[in-house]
Amino acid sequence: MNKYWDKRYQVEGKIWGESPSRTAEYALKIFEENKAKNILVPGSGYGRNSKLFSAHGFDVVGVEISPTACKIARELDPKTRVYNASALDMSFLFDKFDSIYGFNILHLFREEDRKLFIKQCSYRIKNHGLMFFTVFSEKEESYGKGNEVEENTFESKPRRPVHYFYESDLKDHFKDMEIVETGMIDDPEDHGEGPHTHILRYICVRANKS
Ligand SMILES: C[S@@+](CC[C@H](N)C(=O)[O-])C[C@H]1O[C@@H](n2cnc3c(N)ncnc32)[C@H](O)[C@@H]1O
Repeated sequence: MNKYWDKRYQVEGKIWGESPSRTAEYALKIFEENKAKNILVPGSGYGRNSKLFSAHGFDVVGVEISPTACKIARELDPKTRVYNASALDMSFLFDKFDSIYGFNILHLFREEDRKLFIKQCSYRIKNHGLMFFTVFSEKEESYGKGNEVEENTFESKPRRPVHYFYESDLKDHFKDMEIVETGMIDDPEDHGEGPHTHILRYICVRANKS
């Protein structure tokens, strides 16, 4: 997966432009209402979303597997501390965070790695902290296209399997946490094949550690 993304950033640069996803704006509002001051952004790409949080005074840490994306991020969003590493092993981070925002990263993993990724995030969230994840839903245009490599996981683009989430499946991934909110958000993009809209699901959960 590393090579797939790094190649894309090398060829396409700031793939989705410099504006944040509208899901980041939505998550920002929730985090601010909860008085969050710092945030972890796993899969932070070249920084278009982390920049929104750093511009609003958050202390931001990004973890991104593509070295090319990290390089761009350090120019676009110099306030964010970016680590070129895998979000599947964030044991090098000693900070605990008030909030975590993961944009379209959870759906990139196979089942075992999805569990591992959520575990890695839950180790790094403070008690009562909030985590917000967006994922491709089954309503995406690409759902069902390409090889089905696992249940509801399709390789609609070569070398980039995506898990498409139904609501019950998404909730099931977070069954050990308090689910604050789930919903759908249309996320317009304009790149590659031209203007198109992703039909994303999101989930916001609170960590209640005993
Ligand atoms: C759909 S992109 C979203 C990028 C970014 N959040 C944005 O919208 O600008 C998913 C990102 O996750 C990164 N990624 C994939 N696997 C990863 C992993 N194991 N650890 C950290 N980042 C990963 C990719 O390199 C890519 O930047």
